[in-house]
Amino acid sequence: MTVRPATQEDWPSVKKLLRFTFSELRDTCGSDDIFDVASHVVSRGIDTGEAVFVAEDQMGELGGYVAWVGKIPGMPDDVAFGVGTYVLPKHRGNGLSERLRDAAIARCRELGYRRVRGEASNKNTAGIASCEKLGFQVVGVVVEKAL
Ligand SMILES: CC(C)(COP(=O)(O)OP(=O)(O)OC[C@H]1O[C@@H](n2cnc3c(N)ncnc32)[C@H](O)[C@@H]1OP(=O)(O)O)[C@@H](O)C(=O)NCCC(=O)NCCS
Repeated sequence: MTVRPATQEDWPSVKKLLRFTFSELRDTCGSDDIFDVASHVVSRGIDTGEAVFVAEDQMGELGGYVAWVGKIPGMPDDVAFGVGTYVLPKHRGNGLSERLRDAAIARCRELGYRRVRGEASNKNTAGIASCEKLGFQVVGVVVEKAL
């Protein structure tokens, strides 16, 4: 697998992977409205050279992506928001998310961000463990009640 910056030509495949992310993490990602906002933010991030990377196999198929993007309303200027990281099930357990996120960390540093922040369900043990391995810390919890 080659990890490289995403281009607009990748966008249809990245959007498909973003859709998989939303369906697998439905309890935290939520509605189609949020998917549309996330799509817009990631597509814009590709255009502006933010930390959006893909993992591509020898056949040119994408097996995963990471998208950490800044200039999100309500977010400090020096914070990149982790819109998504996703690895197709068949490629999991091979260190791919780590390689994608290492690339994103390097790019975020180049862009001058001081922190990256993301959200995860407390049920997403793989997601949280994979972040903690890279030095992420749980800094708060979101409370929610169904109405
Ligand atoms: C979470 C996810 C991105 C991990 O991708 P991956 O390429 O399989 O992860 P890696 O192989 O790079 O693993 C890196 C570390 O994450 C942790 N990890 C990964 N999968 C794990 C699992 N199923 N259970 C516990 N820890 C896990 C381990 O600490 C692992 O390091 P190790 O192999 O040295 O023990 C992948 O499972 C995924 O796409 N899940 C759905 C989307 C998602 O949850 N995104 C992250 C939201 S925070």
